[in-house]
Amino acid sequence: MLKVGLVGVGGISGAHIPAWEEMENAQLVALCDIRPERMEKYSDKRCYTDLDEMLANEELDILDICLPTYLHADVAVKAMNMGINVVTEKPISLKEEDVERVYSTAEKNNVKFMVAHVLRFWPEYELLKEIYDSKRYGKLLSGTMIRLGGYPKWSWDGWMMDEKRSGLVPFDLHIHDLDFMVYAFGLPKVANQYRSKLPKQDYISLVYDFGEFSINSEASWYAASYPFTAEFRFQFEDAIVANEKGKMMIYLKDNEKIDLSQEAEGDTGSINLPKSDAYANELIYFADCVENNKPVDKFRPEELSCVLKILNNL
Ligand SMILES: NC(=O)c1ccc[n+]([C@@H]2O[C@H](COP(=O)([O-])OP(=O)(O)OC[C@H]3O[C@@H](n4cnc5c(N)ncnc54)[C@H](O)[C@@H]3O)[C@@H](O)[C@H]2O)c1
Repeated sequence: MLKVGLVGVGGISGAHIPAWEEMENAQLVALCDIRPERMEKYSDKRCYTDLDEMLANEELDILDICLPTYLHADVAVKAMNMGINVVTEKPISLKEEDVERVYSTAEKNNVKFMVAHVLRFWPEYELLKEIYDSKRYGKLLSGTMIRLGGYPKWSWDGWMMDEKRSGLVPFDLHIHDLDFMVYAFGLPKVANQYRSKLPKQDYISLVYDFGEFSINSEASWYAASYPFTAEFRFQFEDAIVANEKGKMMIYLKDNEKIDLSQEAEGDTGSINLPKSDAYANELIYFADCVENNKPVDKFRPEELSCVLKILNNL
């Protein structure tokens, strides 16, 4: 049984904690947050307000880092130097040079490391990659990916609204789509970019050139409380694959359309999407790598470096 500790019991821990609780080969034994009230409802865990104390007292196999972004790399290096395997929330860091620092620390200590880029485990996005790889609907011609929402006012100490600590929209929001593009389609060039950054609002629009096709992408924290929207639409030679308005659809040339949404009624054949939780899928994948000493080969450091290089130029 893998012993897991989690640090940073804020918003996203609400997706990680239940995933660990469901897992059969792992046990979440300890939590750490500087705000003790965040841990009150987890009375069956050993709770710490100091990470060094948790790392010294617990014999952890895995540390799950759900801290604010600017703390990820240093905490990952500290834990790996103690021989602990680390999964951290995205991004690995705001600084490109941290990719080498973190991966070399993992190698030196012979431990596993993963950044939990959740779209790589999200059924709709996994299906899109499978359609691209298999060329089932021909070659990819164009794509659009968007991720929009209102300005995040809820984070601890306002860290998310502080560019030095969160990197704002590029590192907090757009990174999801860019990481997926790099994972699924390779390393792009930026053909065009636009950003409008004002106090309490941030918007970016980019065109990525992949050689044979290009992808348009938008991400925003609008000043207004715009509803959170994460969508894509990809044009293949023989079909449009779209995840829009809460539905995963394939539109075919002969006016036929297939509804692959997780909630869709009836059997749409072998490509029906499984009902699954991407946050659980990513942690299950990492636990399996640790338990069975498998390489974490769904992630390549050069992909993470490419993403941080692009984001640092916005
Ligand atoms: N994958 C996703 O979909 C997704 C979604 C949201 C957030 N995230 C990522 O998760 C990370 C956390 O975001 P969040 O929204 O949960 O933030 P949050 O502000 O809600 O939570 C951060 C928590 O860390 C605690 N903390 C701060 N410093 C600490 C320290 N030194 N020791 C122990 N605890 C400390 C805070 O008290 C707070 O509870 C970010 O890096 C963000 O990019 C990912």
